Amino acid sequence: MSRILVIGKNGQVGFELQRRLARLGQVIAVDVGEIDLANADSIRRVVRESAPDLIANAAAYTAVDQAESEPELALAINGVAPGILAEEAKRAGATLIHYSTDYVFDGAKAAPYTEEDEPRPLSAYGRTKLAGDRAIQAVDVPHLILRTSWVYGGRGKNFLLTIMRLAQERETLSIVDDQVGAPTWSRAIAEATGGMLEHLGYGKPAFREACAGQRGIYNLTAAGQTSWHGFAAAILAHAASARPGESEFALARVPVLKAITTEQYPTPAQRPRNSVLSNAKVQSAFGLVMPDWKFSLGDCMGSGR
Ligand SMILES: NC(=O)c1ccc[n+]([C@@H]2O[C@H](COP(=O)([O-])OP(=O)(O)OC[C@H]3O[C@@H](n4cnc5c(N)ncnc54)[C@H](OP(=O)(O)O)[C@@H]3O)[C@@H](O)[C@H]2O)c1
Repeated sequence: MSRILVIGKNGQVGFELQRRLARLGQVIAVDVGEIDLANADSIRRVVRESAPDLIANAAAYTAVDQAESEPELALAINGVAPGILAEEAKRAGATLIHYSTDYVFDGAKAAPYTEEDEPRPLSAYGRTKLAGDRAIQAVDVPHLILRTSWVYGGRGKNFLLTIMRLAQERETLSIVDDQVGAPTWSRAIAEATGGMLEHLGYGKPAFREACAGQRGIYNLTAAGQTSWHGFAAAILAHAASARPGESEFALARVPVLKAITTEQYPTPAQRPRNSVLSNAKVQSAFGLVMPDWKFSLGDCMGSGR
């Protein structure tokens, strides 16, 4: 049976990934208690001890604003560790799956970003994630770098759960309406990752060669687009129609939603105005059609945590 090392098991994507990839092999799931991505020796020890056929790295320094004041730590985790994982994957004869972000782009483009567009990150988080993508690409190892966006789910720190908390505390919510992107459910990312591995024949002798042939960066986000304000409105609409006692997302009282500009909500890290990524490449290479963000949001809020 193949051995799959999932790093970041307590994170939004990592949690879903360990469940989805268990269908493909024996999952060894780790997080900060077992591995420190800021420490090269720790990374090497964990990979060598687990002797994986596949490494799926869903761990990262994801505190976008905090990264502005801790750029060295963010760089170690997001920029340097992926290169070490790539070297270790090569040494072990394994394949590497890694997640990247829409925040590698500056958001000035008027259309969805493709994998060929030149990244120009606006934030320390974006710069460190881009460094990680490049560190992997510099190693001759079969890899898939999956760039996703606006990740949410039933657990962890995310916009859905923040809006649900604020909705209980406040009568009015002021949400940015001039940044657009694709809210992507963590479970949809894990499902798509499993589907991509199956498409490449995971577990069969030709898998690693197939992955080497398809190696590279792929955008992987929900279909469609909205603003943070539009995302909040959809969350509140679901919550308003949910039945108390039946759904943990039901709200007794729905707050008033107000649209504001990015300038009215200053943050330490600058975000791209346009975060929309085109899924055309992953669709043509893997036949993968990502669900629309509204459909997944309904699914997530219907299925609970
Ligand atoms: N969240 C988004 O909106 C978003 C958007 C685009 C791309 N992405 C990318 O998608 C991937 C998954 O994101 P996510 O939202 O699932 O992340 P997440 O929920 O923040 O989970 C990240 C996990 O990494 C762990 N971690 C942090 N520092 C570590 C270290 N030094 N060593 C080992 N583990 C460490 C975290 O542990 P602690 O919680 O204990 O720190 C956490 O369990 C990441 O590559 C992220 O950059 C995320």
